[in-house]
Amino acid sequence: MAEKILIVDDQALMLRMIGLPLEQEGFTVVTAMTGAQALQQIQADRPDLVILDLVLPDTSGIEVCHRIRQTPTLVDLPLIILSGQTDLSAKIQGLEAGADEYVTKPVDPKEIVARVRGLLARTHRLRQTAADPSARQGRIITLIGVKGGVGTTTLTANLATSLALRRHRVVAVELRPYYGTLARHFKLSPTATLSTLAELAPSHINAANVSACLQPTPQGLHLLLGPQRLKDYREMQPEQVTALLTTLANQTDFVVVDLPHMPSTAGRAALRAAQTVLAVVEPEPSAVAAGQALVELLGAWSIPAQALKVVVVNRIQAALAQSPSEIERALGCGVLGTITAAPDQALSALTIGIPMVQSAPATLVASTLAEMADRIVALKPAGR
Ligand SMILES: Nc1ncnc2c1ncn2[C@@H]1O[C@H](COP(=O)(O)OP(=O)(O)OP(=O)(O)O)[C@@H](O)[C@H]1O
Ligand SMILES: [Mg+2]
Repeated sequence: MAEKILIVDDQALMLRMIGLPLEQEGFTVVTAMTGAQALQQIQADRPDLVILDLVLPDTSGIEVCHRIRQTPTLVDLPLIILSGQTDLSAKIQGLEAGADEYVTKPVDPKEIVARVRGLLARTHRLRQTAADPSARQGRIITLIGVKGGVGTTTLTANLATSLALRRHRVVAVELRPYYGTLARHFKLSPTATLSTLAELAPSHINAANVSACLQPTPQGLHLLLGPQRLKDYREMQPEQVTALLTTLANQTDFVVVDLPHMPSTAGRAALRAAQTVLAVVEPEPSAVAAGQALVELLGAWSIPAQALKVVVVNRIQAALAQSPSEIERALGCGVLGTITAAPDQALSALTIGIPMVQSAPATLVASTLAEMADRIVALKPAGR
């Protein structure tokens, strides 16, 4: 079936000049002369690509661009701005509004045809990679606390940072339906969160849509954060979680997932997708008992025992703390290592928004965290 191109321009002559050569190349062309018409036609005609002028009688092309990108199902709709505005600020504004390309008028129709072909091919490649499990490269590491408040998010932030500082491509995902604390570890106020993806069908959770929700950090890693505002509260369905983590694993070396400790079907899907599951425990009796319950739950969910490792976070450095071998015996699975107590450093890192491995690299806690990251890299991932 011919691919459909929507051309939006208020001048009939321009619509013909661009539309005709595209039709001659076998594309189906539909047109709109106002912003409102364009938005309506995008919904009705489902074009494969849009060519958009910036000066329209009712609204600006930039506004149309924003509206397209704010619609979850249109986040990856290929979009070329074709405008008479040649100044740099207009170009930047157009690209920041979400256009894939910015082309200035006058333009040779042959260039437009070539750009349309190029952008459609690029979009196709991105969607293919996301859908093809054999292209998968990255490792999914899921962290789950045996109970709340044991230091899981702090560990996630530091492991992900450590891996990124070692030049691995890393995405940290905060798989929560509502407010979490991962953003604070990087002093971020995210503009896009998981809630956008939670609205999409699993088949639409592809590389382009997921990339649009990632927040870059100065350490070179990317974050996909849980919703921050109550109105964005969304539970993810297991199929959406699987699509998300598979898509991310195709794009990165490590996907580090921070899970809430309470069981959920979304959490189960993340644990099933992971090659490594880290159970975070404190060395005290009630946490160890909670750890036993977690190990039992993971068994019931058919998470392979060889994927599971325990990380001890000794937050209070108690003299009576249980030893790693006692914890190993109680839980029946291997302890990967212990993170030492550092309440002041943990608080100060959170206040400045730079994880301890970067903000206090010479401290004991930072070296236990960095070593943990190295041990995780060295683990032989359990196959699925
Ligand atoms: N190694 C450590 N030493 C001392 N305090 C720590 C350490 N790691 C984390 N903390 C502190 O423990 C508290 C809980 O940490 P964190 O938010 O990471 O836990 P969590 O398990 O993710 O909690 P939640 O269940 O609410 O998601 C925070 O105040 C944090 O600063
Ligand atoms: Mg947490």
